[in-house]
Amino acid sequence: IEIKKYPELTEKGAIRTEGDGSKHGGFYTQEQIKEVVAYAQERFITIIPEIEMPGHAKAALVSHPELSCTGGPFDQPRIIWGVEEDVFCPGKEATFNFLEDVLTEVFALFPGEYIHIGGDECPKGRWKECPDCQKRIKEEGLDVKSRVADANGKKHSPEELLQSYTITRIEKFANEHGKKIIGWDEILEGGLAPSATVMSWRGEAGGIAAAKQQHDVIMTPNRAGFYLDHLQGAAEVEPAAIGGYSTVEKVYSYNPVPDTMPAEIGKYIIGVQGNLWAEYILSDT
Ligand code: ACM
Ligand code: ZN
Repeated sequence: IEIKKYPELTEKGAIRTEGDGSKHGGFYTQEQIKEVVAYAQERFITIIPEIEMPGHAKAALVSHPELSCTGGPFDQPRIIWGVEEDVFCPGKEATFNFLEDVLTEVFALFPGEYIHIGGDECPKGRWKECPDCQKRIKEEGLDVKSRVADANGKKHSPEELLQSYTITRIEKFANEHGKKIIGWDEILEGGLAPSATVMSWRGEAGGIAAAKQQHDVIMTPNRAGFYLDHLQGAAEVEPAAIGGYSTVEKVYSYNPVPDTMPAEIGKYIIGVQGNLWAEYILSDT
C-alpha cells in the first residue's frame, strides 16, 4: 500500500528482481484502496488489512534499514517465501514512530474495527545480539521477568517477552485509535496483548490456549485445509505450491467448535479463515 509519509516503501520495497532479471511486484495506491474498500462495503464485506510486524518486514527494511537491528543495507525484498532473520528492531524508538505513522495512514483507509498486525515467524537471533534490543530488555525489566513463570505457569525468554512488549505497545496505539488487533498465534509468545484476537494457523493449539485466556480466536489451521494455496490434488498436475493438501471436502468437514470442545472455550472461537497467499499465484486469471 502506498504510504504518503514514506514513499520509498513502495519505490524500493514493492518490486523484486529474480535471478533471470525479471521484475515482479506492484502496490495499491491509496486511491485504489479506497475503491476496493468501497466495492467490498457495497457487498457487506469488511476488509481487514494486515501490516506485518515485527517479522516478515524485509520489504520495509530495504528502504528503511535503520529500523533493523544491524542497520543493513538490504538490497531488495526476499525473492522466495520463507522466514527472514532481519526483522524490525523494537529496541529503537524510531521503529515505533515509523509503525505508528504507517498505521495512522492505514487506519484512515480501512473503516473496519480490526487491524491485523501479523506477529508471526519472527526469529529472535538479531534481538539477542542487538545493543538497542538488550537495552530495552533491561529497561523494561524483561530479563528479570524471564526468570519467573507467568500466570499460566510458563516461562518466556527475554526476547519472547520483547515480542510481547512490541505487540502490546502497538495494541495500545491501535486501541487509542478505536481499532482492535488481530495477530497470528505466535503473539502468545511472551504473553498475549490484553485484548488481542488470535488467528490460530499452526494447528489449533494456539487458538485453544488463547480461548482459555478468554481471548477471541479465529481458526485457520494449515493442515486442516485452511491454506487454500496448498496443493489441492497430485503435485504433478497442480500449480506450484509449498506443499500441503487442501481439498474442498477437508475444508468443509472441519468443525471449529466440535461437540467435544468445552463451551467456555468454544464461545471464544468466533470463526474461521481460509488463507490464500498470493506468492504462488502467477496471474489474476
Ligand atoms: C503464516 O502462514 N505465517 C501465518
Ligand atoms: Zn534490535
